[in-house]
Amino acid sequence: MKQILILNGPNLNLLGKREPEIYGSRTFVDYLETIEQAFPDIQIRYFQSNHEGELIDKIHELGFTIDGIVINAGAYTHTSIALADALSAVPAPAVEVHISNVHAREEFRHHSYLSAKCKGVIVGLGLLGYDLAVRYLVSLEK
Ligand code: DQA
Repeated sequence: MKQILILNGPNLNLLGKREPEIYGSRTFVDYLETIEQAFPDIQIRYFQSNHEGELIDKIHELGFTIDGIVINAGAYTHTSIALADALSAVPAPAVEVHISNVHAREEFRHHSYLSAKCKGVIVGLGLLGYDLAVRYLVSLEK
């Protein structure tokens, strides 16, 4: 069975409560059920942390065995060379997801340290972006 890691970074534990006009009113835990139902043959591993090192540790832990990583690193996207290095260090292909259209927001959100380490980037499509990223990763040949 293929395994995909969904990794959410800081403040994404507050989805549903946090700026719903930008991020919507659905919690991620609720959305996760939809993903799991959409991919019954895929084992979805989910991890969220507000701490950069914990996100890196999870990439180290699973990145050598997992079939793909969907990463929304939140604000660490725009700051973290360490997370970018972690993605480079492991063989698992990654897709970067942002719920909001970061390019239509503040300038500091336009740059990502992670994009160059990922197969592709999905921005601004809301939570559906995670579904599309999983769909892409499971379609890849090993
Ligand atoms: C975000 C965009 C980031 O700029 C922001 O810091 C987030 C969420 C998104 O999903 O749209 O925390 O990654």
